[in-house]
Amino acid sequence: RGPVRVAVLGCGVVGTEVVRLLVQQAEDLAARVGAPLELVGVAVRDTSTPRGAAVDPELLTTDAEGLVDRADVVVEVMGGVEPARALILRAIERGAAVVTANKELLGKDGPTLYAAADAAGTDLYFEAAVAGAIPIVRPVRESLAGDRITRVLGIVNGTTNYVLDQMATSGQGLQEAVRQAQELGFAEADPTADVEGYDAAAKAAILASLAFHTRVSAADVHREGIMNLTADDVARAATTGHVLKLLAIAERSGDGVVVRVHPALLPQWHPLASVRGSFNAVFVEAEAAGELMFYGRGAGGTPTASAVLGDVVTVARNKVIGGKGPIESRYAELPVRGVAEA
Ligand code: HSE
Repeated sequence: RGPVRVAVLGCGVVGTEVVRLLVQQAEDLAARVGAPLELVGVAVRDTSTPRGAAVDPELLTTDAEGLVDRADVVVEVMGGVEPARALILRAIERGAAVVTANKELLGKDGPTLYAAADAAGTDLYFEAAVAGAIPIVRPVRESLAGDRITRVLGIVNGTTNYVLDQMATSGQGLQEAVRQAQELGFAEADPTADVEGYDAAAKAAILASLAFHTRVSAADVHREGIMNLTADDVARAATTGHVLKLLAIAERSGDGVVVRVHPALLPQWHPLASVRGSFNAVFVEAEAAGELMFYGRGAGGTPTASAVLGDVVTVARNKVIGGKGPIESRYAELPVRGVAEA
């Protein structure tokens, strides 16, 4: 067969790195896929914004729909709910495979997209949507599909982990630490999503849906951010042998599931207590597998692009061999319980 045509939607911090790696590693990727990957275009809002040397200006277009219609694989790294949602659905309906890093969209409306991909018989992969470079979506979605997951505990927001770590180790104030996180490039453009726990809640909803084979949306997640924590709270935690972390928790409770994001005191011996700076980690408990921990960089252009590229290789390979990845729309329909009911 000919090359697998790849379209990239969005050229921000992650998109730029995806394009760079697609071009620089073209030969290796072709060997892994079994066919060359042809980058057919990069959809942007404004073609005159400088993009750096890695992005050929000839590839830029503002016609995202036209680009989607020319692709076998659509990589959505624009973020936000619309127009990402409409473009992904368009790609799926045309039978293209989709790779997305869009936690906000999947947290809000993942089940609609999973169902559309299932109905169209095409792949929808989203490893980069939760915890950046860390392989966590695939382990929960595929490797543990034969097990019964009982609990997922995660540090899935690098900005807040960095902020709490800075407050604990250098006595820095919350605002100053948030500013630093923004400068380092892992905070969201509007850090409210980080510090108020919305970003972690979206990721918790995605992981809970996969872990418990049910539909959890970000709106179902009980959410508290870190804005009310003081330097005193952080220091006091240390005196009792604890560390304050913003945790995303999803667990079975009776016949349902409870999903929540809030600051929690972790004993210093817990494996998640040693996750420093902007790193992320997810701790999974499953009946047969026991305890598992996944650790690494959860944010930043290059680490996130690594996860995107891994998905691109898989879905492009599936195009070449006529294969198909996992489906997500056959649910157990476990009720999502409020925290008070748990
Ligand atoms: N703002 C997010 C974080 C980026 O700090 O973890 C990765 O989703």
